[in-house]
Amino acid sequence: MKKYGIIAVLLTMCLLFAACGQTTNTNSAEKPKGTTAETQSSETQNTSETVIDKADSTSNYPAFDFNEKTVTLNSGYKMPILGLGMFSLSDSVAENSTYWALKAGFRLIDTAKIYGNEAAVGRGLQRAINEGIVKREDVFITTKMWTSDFSNGDEAINASLEKLGVDYIDLMILHHSQPSNDVDAYKAMERAVADGKLKSIGLSNYYEPSDFDRVVNATTIKPALLQNETHPYHQSGRMKQHISQYGTVLESWFPLGGRGNTQTLFNDSTISAIAQAHGKSSAQVIIRWHLQAGNICIPGSSNEQHIIEDYNVWDFELTDDEMAQMTALEKDERFADY
Ligand SMILES: NC(=O)c1ccc[n+]([C@@H]2O[C@H](COP(=O)([O-])OP(=O)(O)OC[C@H]3O[C@@H](n4cnc5c(N)ncnc54)[C@H](OP(=O)(O)O)[C@@H]3O)[C@@H](O)[C@H]2O)c1
Repeated sequence: MKKYGIIAVLLTMCLLFAACGQTTNTNSAEKPKGTTAETQSSETQNTSETVIDKADSTSNYPAFDFNEKTVTLNSGYKMPILGLGMFSLSDSVAENSTYWALKAGFRLIDTAKIYGNEAAVGRGLQRAINEGIVKREDVFITTKMWTSDFSNGDEAINASLEKLGVDYIDLMILHHSQPSNDVDAYKAMERAVADGKLKSIGLSNYYEPSDFDRVVNATTIKPALLQNETHPYHQSGRMKQHISQYGTVLESWFPLGGRGNTQTLFNDSTISAIAQAHGKSSAQVIIRWHLQAGNICIPGSSNEQHIIEDYNVWDFELTDDEMAQMTALEKDERFADY
């Protein structure tokens, strides 16, 4: 564990340094003009390699751009580094939360077929488009293919497109590892990339390097992203280090500990003290820690004031010492049992 803690601190420092140096400008749905995914990806990797080399010569971990609030994925597409999650939100709540999030400045929404609220997210998006708050191409939509659909991936992708009411999905990920047929599902997503239905593809809930590599070795497109339970008590250092070789970025689910567990993190004495020092809430400090550590962060909320608060994390910065204090909170302790 100690080893991964040190790696996490070094990666964090390098990512911060990289974030200061990037100035590119394109929206999330379009690849930079005149650039293929491969060349864009290698340009990005060069930038991050230059700085990450100091910590680990094998790392291609994508650098975060705090000016644009985006990261360039290994697919060549830009993705916002802070989004709103839709887990366990009813239809009406998900529609409002999506709309409030876009109004507050969020440009990334994370949903899933199994949440049952893809259509509601689509309605919230459409409301924001109708009011001129965003255009479709300003918003990055992630959804997830559920395990029972893995043998019928093509149909599942079409169903998600229809429910969301969009022509393309920015990122689709397999919701859980399922060795019996997750490779089939991943190949369906690869076909959908070729058809222009999906822009980027990735994985969720792969907690062993060998399990992640099982899919990588059987398929063509490297996962753009891995979404795993990640927070100060479970920092995912080992998987983050492993996926960096593929230029795959980590995204944190349960970033605040998850519903019912948030007070454990909010009342942690280290987190509370840092929050007090910055005049911010514990939620804002935890979100800021994720971003500075190089984790895409997708807090979930049903409350407009919380949503506004969760996006208001761009006007302060955790010091190296505070980042090290947060890194030292690692307990390898998950809140979920799946
Ligand atoms: N891939 C997977 O298997 C998986 C699993 C779980 C989650 N996810 C994704 O990750 C997202 C985040 O996870 P999550 O929503 O379960 O947990 P979370 O973001 O860690 O925590 C959500 C809880 O935080 C509260 N909260 C949010 N902002 C707050 C603030 N500023 N002050 C006080 N409380 C605040 C919410 O309450 P209010 O509603 O009152 O704001 C809610 O109770 C999900 O929505 C989903 O998109 C993926």
